Amino acid sequence: MPRLRRLLFGSLLALCLLYTLYHHRTPSSPPLQAIPPDCPSHPDLSDILVILKTGVTESRDKVPIHLTTTLRCIPNHALFSDYIEPLSPSISTHDVLASLSPALIATHPDFDLYRRVQAHGPTALTPADLNPDINTPIGKPNNPGWKLDKWKFLPMLDEALALKPDAKWYVFMEADTYILWDNLLAWLRRLNPKDAIYLGNQMQIVDAIFAHGGSGFILSRPAVVKAVEHRKRSRDGWERAVGEHWAGDCMLGILLQDVGIELTWGWPMLQIAPPGEMDYFDLGYERRPWCYPAVSFHHLDGDGIRELDAMERTLKGKKGPVVYRDVFLNVMRPQLRDVRTDWDNLVEGEAVSVTSFAACRGVCSREALCLQYAYNETTSECRTSTALAVGHPQPGLSAGWMMDRIDAMADSLGECDEISWI
Ligand SMILES: *[C@@H]1O[C@H](CO)[C@@H](O)[C@H](O)[C@H]1NC(C)=O
Repeated sequence: MPRLRRLLFGSLLALCLLYTLYHHRTPSSPPLQAIPPDCPSHPDLSDILVILKTGVTESRDKVPIHLTTTLRCIPNHALFSDYIEPLSPSISTHDVLASLSPALIATHPDFDLYRRVQAHGPTALTPADLNPDINTPIGKPNNPGWKLDKWKFLPMLDEALALKPDAKWYVFMEADTYILWDNLLAWLRRLNPKDAIYLGNQMQIVDAIFAHGGSGFILSRPAVVKAVEHRKRSRDGWERAVGEHWAGDCMLGILLQDVGIELTWGWPMLQIAPPGEMDYFDLGYERRPWCYPAVSFHHLDGDGIRELDAMERTLKGKKGPVVYRDVFLNVMRPQLRDVRTDWDNLVEGEAVSVTSFAACRGVCSREALCLQYAYNETTSECRTSTALAVGHPQPGLSAGWMMDRIDAMADSLGECDEISWI
């Protein structure tokens, strides 16, 4: 009898051990999406949930391109919005605002658009809702979709956790964000997902430091859990706080700061600009982007997304990560030339009066650090800049670049035998 008991006890122990082992080895829950068979296999991707935040005013125009490019090979992704709608035969958006308090939704003026669309669908959108509006230092205060958007940042964490409770990382992007997944995965492998990590492109409003939403940001599971639990203790308080602030990404930073999670500064690996508007050469926050892996870009339209997608395919066989040098040489450099007429290369700053485009070039050439200039043909004004931008067509302006200086600068920064990481 005692022997039998020992035996039984022993087998029970063995069973327990097996059970524990099994559960430690079991990979995360089944993928949310079936990915096409030609996608590269990336074991780490199964630990990541990618959330693309959008809204009913832009979703049908701006999200589908991601389903065939950025999100195509991501086994766990979700579209978070303010309205539930299918955006392909296999994926619908989630309404992340539905969990906010009914009183807020029923009465707050920011929810006017939300209430109309809930009642009548996207046909209730007016031309004013769809007007892109100009971006100001405090966002787009006249754009109803933009005003609604800030309310998504906090409930988005609850929704993400519910959707994939066992992810190691939660990656948040927007419809005008592009992420280079290989580089992001390589970066995350250098970090410990058991730590509470908040990784993003640093921004500051008053004394809050937070991750800029459009540049993309990443939270480890412990960070999401802590933030969700913290907000649960005072949902009304956080709703009031969001109501009084204009930036939802900043409110998320404040919530995380409140539970002691500081932002890891992600610049330059996460960028607020598209490839044609970023400063590849200069130091920022004591870092020079040139030899850093490129992880994100922002402010991209469909063409910009396709351009980066094509670049990644071109650079597929490259040894080592795609660094900003590669992006400069493959995307920006081919678009620069000595002269582009009817073109705005986004030069701002002091204007000087000159007599011709050639004279404007002269002004730039006499400034040692000038890399580009623009000439306004109506006013004969000349502007110069030490930063680079590609820009866009614009009748009445002529743009010029100092190609020799630009190429000399690119040469002097080297070929990135050593990769910089954060
Ligand atoms: C040229 O300058 C004038 C005056 O600043 C401005 O109104 C006009 O828009 C400029 N032209 C272009 C094409 O930017």
